[in-house]
Amino acid sequence: MGKSREAILARLRENQEQYLPGDLLSSGLGISRAAVWKQIRELRKDGYRINAVPNRGYRLEKEPDFLEAKKLEDSSIYYYHSVDSTNRVARRLADDGAPNYSTVVAEEQLEGRGRLGRSWFSPAASGIWLSIILRPQMLIPSQAAPVTLVTAAILANLINNHYNLPLKVKWPNDLLLKDKKVGGILTELKGELDKIEYLIVGIGLNINQQQQDFPKGLRKVATSLHIESGEYFNRTDIIVAIRDNLVRAFNIFFNEGFPPFYMTWKKYNVTLGQKVTLSWKGGLLQGKAILLTREGALQIQDNRGEIYTVNYGELI
Ligand code: BTN
Repeated sequence: MGKSREAILARLRENQEQYLPGDLLSSGLGISRAAVWKQIRELRKDGYRINAVPNRGYRLEKEPDFLEAKKLEDSSIYYYHSVDSTNRVARRLADDGAPNYSTVVAEEQLEGRGRLGRSWFSPAASGIWLSIILRPQMLIPSQAAPVTLVTAAILANLINNHYNLPLKVKWPNDLLLKDKKVGGILTELKGELDKIEYLIVGIGLNINQQQQDFPKGLRKVATSLHIESGEYFNRTDIIVAIRDNLVRAFNIFFNEGFPPFYMTWKKYNVTLGQKVTLSWKGGLLQGKAILLTREGALQIQDNRGEIYTVNYGELI
């Protein structure tokens, strides 16, 4: 930790009952106000909640709530502070031979990725950024798409039943809370046409963020478990539960396929019965989502009555 950063943090900790004027901080430490502001921004990025009020100064509201490294390591989960993307770390581990179900989590991602090359906002110490490596023996790439649906169904089940929040799933990879996006799944595959070397299932779930923690452009469309419930959650416990539930589910999926998860997915989905526009094969398919097949493909009926069965794509 840098010297001025440490000194600022110490002063903020001593003064948690009041605002500490910026000029007092800068003159006390012999650095410029701009340098103070820079450190404050860095601390915020690392999960320190610091209020800044013009003419009053700074106040430390909350220290970051880091994950419990020991509990994670006891569950054989790789824990990192800061990574580019947990999916990428998982890929590197898989390339080095990491076994089935190896799991990676990080406090923050500097290049968190969403589907279709989008970026995924992954600030420190507030969400869950997790990737799990799968090495299915009997599955070929064309059968892999339901992995995302199984993951979504399991997450919805866990959050509804154990955390009492009405998390919903939108085909194929969106996790919603009160119509806003609370999380998403990014499944990647390495293999050949007839063989999967490994799959990486990446999960992003917004947990303890407050509304102002999101960039302005995301505030209308994104939410967190905390925003919708007013509570703070123990992320470590949720991570361990996610991992345990997913391992159990994938063991079943690899032997029996999607059917055992069909009803759970259906119970929490918001897609069936809706008018949808699918970006698919470079074009747009418009119609109504009429059915999910037992294998996890979505059937869309267009306004001429034609039915399309799709395994992947993006609803817009
Ligand atoms: C989406 O909805 O577009 C998918 C978002 C997936 C985000 C997670 S966070 C952990 C993992 N690492 C990444 O870079 N992305 C996924």
